[in-house]
Amino acid sequence: MKHFLKLSDLSAEEIYRLLDIAADLKYKQKNGIPHRYLEGKTIALVFKKASTRTRASFEVGAYQLGAYGAFLNAADMQISRGEPVQDTIRVLSRYFDMLMIRTFEQSYVEDLAKYGSIPIINGLTDYCHPTQVIADLMTIREYKGGLEGLKLCYIGDGNNMANSYIVGALKAGMRMTAVCPEGYRPDPFVLNFAKAYGDKFKLCGEPLEGVVGADVLCTDVWTSMGQEEETEKRKRAFDGYQINDEIMSAANPGAVVLHCLPAHRGEEITEKVFEEHADEIFDEAENRLHAHKAIMVALSGNCGK
Ligand code: CP
Ligand code: NVA
Repeated sequence: MKHFLKLSDLSAEEIYRLLDIAADLKYKQKNGIPHRYLEGKTIALVFKKASTRTRASFEVGAYQLGAYGAFLNAADMQISRGEPVQDTIRVLSRYFDMLMIRTFEQSYVEDLAKYGSIPIINGLTDYCHPTQVIADLMTIREYKGGLEGLKLCYIGDGNNMANSYIVGALKAGMRMTAVCPEGYRPDPFVLNFAKAYGDKFKLCGEPLEGVVGADVLCTDVWTSMGQEEETEKRKRAFDGYQINDEIMSAANPGAVVLHCLPAHRGEEITEKVFEEHADEIFDEAENRLHAHKAIMVALSGNCGK
C-alpha cells in the first residue's frame, strides 16, 4: 500500500491487514506494550475543513507511535492564496515522511499523491471518508466477531460516508443496502463498482424495506461540510430517513448502530436510539485512533511484525 486515498484502491487482503494491525495496536496501547514504530518520523496533518476526531486521533496516534504530527490549517497556508498543489507537495515531501489531508475535491488528494514523493492519507473528501470506514469495520468486527456475510444498512445521504461504506463493506465480504432518497444517491462510480457484487448490494428508497435483516445500521448527517446553504432543502428531502425505534424493530435483534459523528439528534437518528447505542458509537470513535495508527504504520512499512 503506497497511499491511502480511497478504499477501491485497496484489496480485501489490504483492508483485513489494516484491521489486524489496528487490533494489535489497540491491544498494545491498552496493555502498555511499546509500539513506537514511527520513531522520529514526521506527518503533516492538513485541514481545509473542520475536524474534532480526525485531527485529535491523528495527532495523538502519531505521538504514541513516536512520530511528530504537525497540524497545518490550510486557511493559513499559501494553498489558500493559490499556490499550486504540485509545488506545495514537492516542498512538504522534503520536510515530512507522510501527509494526511482533509479537503473538498478527491482530485486534490489524488494530485498530492501524483506530484509528491511521500505517502498521502485521505482524511475525508466530498467523495469519500476511508479512514472512518476502517474504524467502523474494526468496530463491527469487535461486536460481531467477524464481517463476512453480515448485512450493513446505511440510511440517509448518499455522501462520502455512504460511498466508503459501500466499497468497504463489499470488499470485506459483507452485504450492503444503501437507503437514500431520489436525488441523493451514492456516487455513480461507486454504484458501478457495486454492480460487480450482484445481489450483495441493494440500493433502495424505503428505510423500512432496506433495513430488514440488517446486522449493522449506519447513518450520517443530512448536510455535510460545505453544503450548509442547502440545509433547509435537505431537511425536507431526508424527512423519514432516520434511525428510530420503528427502524430498529425491523432490523435483526442485537443490530449494532454506528454514526461517524458529529450527530444531529432528531434528524438522522433519534436521541433514544443514539443513547441506547452510545457504547458502540463511542467505541467507533475511539477506534479512529487505532485505525489511523494502523494506516500510518502500514504506509511506513514498519509494523513491527
Ligand atoms: N467522524 C469524523 O471524521 O469526525 P471529525 O469531523 O470530527 O474529524
Ligand atoms: N458527511 C460528513 C462526515 C463528517 C465526518 C461531512 O462530510 O461533513
